[in-house]
Amino acid sequence: MSDFDAIVLGAGAAGLFCAGVAAQHGARVLVLDHADAPGKKILISGGGRCNFTNLHTAPDRYLSANRHFAKSALSRYTAQDFIGLVNAHGIAWHEKTLGQLFCDGSARQIVDMLLAELAKGGGELVCGDAIRDVAHADGRFAVTTSRTIYEARQLVIATGGPSIPKLGASGFAYDLARQFGLKVVHPRPALVPLTLGGEEVLFRELSGVSAPVVATAGKASFAEAALFTHRGLSGPAILQASSYWTGGEPLWIDFLPQAARDWLLDAKRTSPRATLRSALRDALPQRLADVLADRLGVDGMLGTLPDKPLRAAQERLGRWAFHPNGSEGFAKAEVTAGGISTAELSSKTMEASNVPGLYAIGEAVDVTGWLGGYNFQWAWASGHAAGRAI
Ligand code: FDA
Repeated sequence: MSDFDAIVLGAGAAGLFCAGVAAQHGARVLVLDHADAPGKKILISGGGRCNFTNLHTAPDRYLSANRHFAKSALSRYTAQDFIGLVNAHGIAWHEKTLGQLFCDGSARQIVDMLLAELAKGGGELVCGDAIRDVAHADGRFAVTTSRTIYEARQLVIATGGPSIPKLGASGFAYDLARQFGLKVVHPRPALVPLTLGGEEVLFRELSGVSAPVVATAGKASFAEAALFTHRGLSGPAILQASSYWTGGEPLWIDFLPQAARDWLLDAKRTSPRATLRSALRDALPQRLADVLADRLGVDGMLGTLPDKPLRAAQERLGRWAFHPNGSEGFAKAEVTAGGISTAELSSKTMEASNVPGLYAIGEAVDVTGWLGGYNFQWAWASGHAAGRAI
């Protein structure tokens, strides 16, 4: 049996960072993971270059049942703080777009940095050991693994959410939370491609075509690229909107976000011999222009057509309703929305109010960021909050 001040379950972004912070502040920390190596999601993130934070990090870029919860941790450990750490480790980085920061080299540098920070504080890491049981008695937690029993006064749940199970992701955090009487906000795939059925399967013939659009789900709109796939819709605009999309609701796409309000009526005047198809081909990838023109069914030279169908066509192109029949699920979701309810967690320390010494951080918690480095920034910020409290 081994005794620690804190056991951190999960050697992902949040767990490794939290443990490093706690260890450097004098705590005896153990990080435990059932996977054979730490930080597997970090390694595949950002196309292998890890989009490790976002310069525009702000609480309104996170979804949660309590939209105020993330404020405290995000303000006390900021994107600039993490950039300072990355710089101190000599990791070169660049801004790709929209405040998204990536390593110039490889995501492996971020994992190595987190491991170095853990080692600096004397923290221990055990991988490839399955957790069989977690018990709590007399103010102490006992974690029974396939090999031994570890004990500590404090336990941090940092086992993430169930997205991408083939990397070792699981719903273990939720089982553990429920065991300790914490509530779980229904987990659902987020930042996930959406699937099309019915007659919208016709759009699948556009597989591989992408275009800059504005995608809207609920009250949230995102101006980025959309990509047609052999199953439906993907690309950054769709992934972002998917987090706000509720099954059964439409997803709206503005295919011509840059166009003037009456662009088709203007085209009728300036190019009366043009057709809707040729006008669309000027603005969109040809295959997309053709499919949209076919579906709008407005034929003939613009100059010969009445204004009414042209106005209807331009309105539909600016607010095209898709009716996704689902998403590609946890197997393809970049993150999980929902998770351990923030209602019973301290926003300052991430400690559970009804179980002193129990903490939850990272994706396991009901805080989900936009695409673009926001989720890692939440992992660092929530990990830092708990790490300082341990
Ligand atoms: P994370 O999932 O990283 O770690 C959880 C750890 O717990 C894992 O090591 C796992 O093995 C372990 N674990 C799970 N169940 C366990 C059990 N039962 N027992 C023991 N251990 C267990 N975000 C971002 O900001 N920028 C980006 O570029 C990307 N890119 C990206 C690409 C892809 C393909 C995916 C799937 C995700 C991203 N993300 C991202 C999201 C980001 O990876 C994610 O939000 C963080 O990794 C969450 O960090 P956590 O530490 O909370 O969980």
